[in-house]
Amino acid sequence: MLKGSFELIGDKSISHRAIMFSSIAKGTTRISNFLMGQDCLSTVDCFRKMGVDISVNSKEVLVKGVGLRGLKKPIDILDVGNSGTTIRLMMGILAGNDFNSTIIGDESIGKRPMKRVTDPLRLMGCSIDGKDDANYIPIKIHGGNLNGINYNMPVASAQVKSSIILASLYANEASTIIEKSKSRNHTEIMLNSFGANIKTDGLKIDVSPIDELYSVGNINVAGDISSAAFIIVAASIVKGSEVIIKNVGLNETRTGILDVLKSMNGNFEIVDKRLVGGEIVGDLIIRYSDNLTATTIDSDLIPRLIDEIPVIAVLATQAEGTTIIKDAKELKVKESNRIKAIVDNLKNMGADIEELEDGMVINGKCELKGAKIKAFNDHRIAMAFSVASLISKGKTYIDNTTCIDISFPGYFNLLNTLLK
Ligand code: S3P
Repeated sequence: MLKGSFELIGDKSISHRAIMFSSIAKGTTRISNFLMGQDCLSTVDCFRKMGVDISVNSKEVLVKGVGLRGLKKPIDILDVGNSGTTIRLMMGILAGNDFNSTIIGDESIGKRPMKRVTDPLRLMGCSIDGKDDANYIPIKIHGGNLNGINYNMPVASAQVKSSIILASLYANEASTIIEKSKSRNHTEIMLNSFGANIKTDGLKIDVSPIDELYSVGNINVAGDISSAAFIIVAASIVKGSEVIIKNVGLNETRTGILDVLKSMNGNFEIVDKRLVGGEIVGDLIIRYSDNLTATTIDSDLIPRLIDEIPVIAVLATQAEGTTIIKDAKELKVKESNRIKAIVDNLKNMGADIEELEDGMVINGKCELKGAKIKAFNDHRIAMAFSVASLISKGKTYIDNTTCIDISFPGYFNLLNTLLK
């Protein structure tokens, strides 16, 4: 069983934004509870290459911002590693800057579509070249002189939305973005705290261009509910568990997993809700649930739990009835093709699961058996199957667990201290 309590590591999405926005704001920003995962360190590396003084120690990150128009032409190629958030948000910033830059990344980034960002940025007047009409890295950008945009987003994506918002700050007129579905809004919250003028009305976002951003001084990063998800599911399915997770980010654009768990008869409560850096956080008490029931996950719920689907699929194997996950085609273009990664690996563990074009159907409750898991170098697949292994008969081997450092350094240490 899992027993104990712990302080949750910082949110990946918020940590990226804290580095980027502090870099392009005037003044110094002190970031605490920053996620020292590989992805966020890729963001640090890219902004250092554009002349930003960023010092990182185990306790905090100090960013000496250069102002909205203070970035310098990168001294080298910008390498985003495995990080989709780095490349997509950074392209929005680069689009506003009158210099040349080239962006590359790892093998997984090489397969991820960028036209969803390069298309609107080109419409704003940015010059972009890249493989397959700027759909894939390497991508070369020459920004500056942007016009505003009225853009109906074809995909529900916070990365795309954020990229256009960032470019809009530099444009010569106002922009309007219409989201397809409400996605995480950390960009809007943090940029407004830095003095931007971003107005949200349902799915409509109006962004005014501005002269300058100003640091708020300190940012305390809320805990990452997407990382907590692995412990939430583990505690829900391992008999006798009770875990307290402190400082969980509860922004409602991210709490789809809690809505799902509630509808599945999960056993949890939230205490001590408070505001940290404009974001709601709280402590989550999560207990084993012996009567989990199936659910349907689709439509507007998908962006609110997109990164949690691998571990939610594991949860569904332990729920009575048929769980349907649909409208989640986006899973195919994450760090790996997550539909295939989840379905193939769960099948190998003996689950009754069927692949759909845009999701999967899981018939529970089923007994899982240990298996050889292919993580496809995808941190969330590796962690989801480590959770599955806790309730499986026999040993499970995961082919790559170093990728977990992308978002959850220290994951196995934490899991081992909770396992009793
Ligand atoms: C993120 C948005 C999501 C998510 C990713 C982080 C962000 O991607 O999957 O891990 O920080 O904006 P999309 O917005 O492209 O769906």
